[in-house]
Amino acid sequence: MKIAVVGTGYVGLVTGTCFADSGNDVTCVDINQEKVNALLNGVIPIYEPGLSDLVRRNTAAGRLHFTTNLAEAAEDADVVYLAVGTPPAADGSADLSALWAVCEALAPVLREDAVVVTKSTVPVGTNVKLYERLNSLTGRECRVASNPEFLKEGAAIDDFTKPDRVVVGVRTEAEANILRKLYEPFLRTDKPFLVMSPESAELTKYVANALLATKISFINQMANVCEKFDADINDVRRGIGHDSRIGFAFLHPGVGYGGSCFPKDVRALASTFGDTGIAPKLLEAVDWVNEQQKLVLQNKIENYFGDQIAGKTIAIWGLAFKPKTDDIREAPALVLIDRLLELGCEIKVNDPEAMNNVKAIYGDKLQYFVDHMEAVKGADALAIVTEWTEYRSPDFEQMKLLMNNPTVFDGRNLYKISAMVDNGFEYHSIGRPVVHPALELQ
Ligand SMILES: NC(=O)c1ccc[n+]([C@@H]2O[C@H](COP(=O)([O-])OP(=O)(O)OC[C@H]3O[C@@H](n4cnc5c(N)ncnc54)[C@H](O)[C@@H]3O)[C@@H](O)[C@H]2O)c1
Repeated sequence: MKIAVVGTGYVGLVTGTCFADSGNDVTCVDINQEKVNALLNGVIPIYEPGLSDLVRRNTAAGRLHFTTNLAEAAEDADVVYLAVGTPPAADGSADLSALWAVCEALAPVLREDAVVVTKSTVPVGTNVKLYERLNSLTGRECRVASNPEFLKEGAAIDDFTKPDRVVVGVRTEAEANILRKLYEPFLRTDKPFLVMSPESAELTKYVANALLATKISFINQMANVCEKFDADINDVRRGIGHDSRIGFAFLHPGVGYGGSCFPKDVRALASTFGDTGIAPKLLEAVDWVNEQQKLVLQNKIENYFGDQIAGKTIAIWGLAFKPKTDDIREAPALVLIDRLLELGCEIKVNDPEAMNNVKAIYGDKLQYFVDHMEAVKGADALAIVTEWTEYRSPDFEQMKLLMNNPTVFDGRNLYKISAMVDNGFEYHSIGRPVVHPALELQ
């Protein structure tokens, strides 16, 4: 099939590349000339494991193309995927301006039988509006479908090529069949291809993200309660997770969720409630708890140093909103950095992939270290924000020697409390008792 993918970000680039890899002829379009130039030169503008090899292979095979020219990409496409960003507007609703801009530009060049598929996360009702706008702009009945994306950054290729399920929202079986054919190569393990109305498909995406975000906020709040009663959230987690009705997924306490999806999607879903007469109290609480949780490490650090905090050197491990991505949108690390700078701290940072993105914001206000052990040299404390694998088993002996003061604020509960005591660290984590080695030795 000939496919145009409009918007070549995390989702569009993965979608286009995977469809090319399964034998389609794909052109990815973006308005960002710099991004397209980079892709034309074989440079992948984002970090996503496995993506660059796949892009190179399919570009070399002549199945994957990049352009800024929407008409060139769309005029003979059987399917046009819309994968532009839908960032939050000031009131929390989804800003669909990029989507409507594409719709306007697309209408004059759209083939009569082409199907326009929304891959971007869009509020319920958008598919109908897209259909009406395209009809009015073209003066004919257009074909539209909704096909929300559930991939996770950091595992995007695997998620796309081995999806748990594919959801499509259509009005007629004809559109469903086109998408079924497109997804056939990825559904060999009998994973379901779920056909529903566009409204249900649009809501499915938001409901999935809202539920995952709810689990995270739930366990974070429970972790905070554990701290007040000297309980250990890890034990509580085990106690509930083995219940087959509950399980362990997305019940890891931490510093709050970030990224380009959960925060905006929870707020956008709440704003969808609008004048339905249903109050989005649960979603508002999930968002509120998360915003508070992003402050958890800074509060612990401020409590620890008190009025001596100005001038202290804090090392930060992990800047991306989660491991295996360079994405720092709504990353909890940025909230911590802002506060520590405000308090007059020196900040030494490490992240395996996201340092360039952070440098673009903070420049020389921070010190950047390619080696995470170098970042702790002379530090008065280490804050761990993202659970990259390389942070999981550091050489504690060396770390203690390098640090000015062996105190760790672990926002991801990476270490066993006993290991930190044995290695002589003061250790603050999430929802677990604080350990002070000096006290333990008495
Ligand atoms: N990132 C994720 O993990 C993820 C997962 C599932 C769904 N989604 C959803 O997918 C959509 C895209 O997300 P993303 O993370 O890929 O965003 P992104 O910001 O990485 O990419 C969006 C791209 O669209 C381009 N663009 C904007 N206006 C355009 C226009 N008029 N013409 C052509 N290109 C244009 C931008 O330049 C950018 O490259 C969003 O709705 C998001 O909620 C994202």
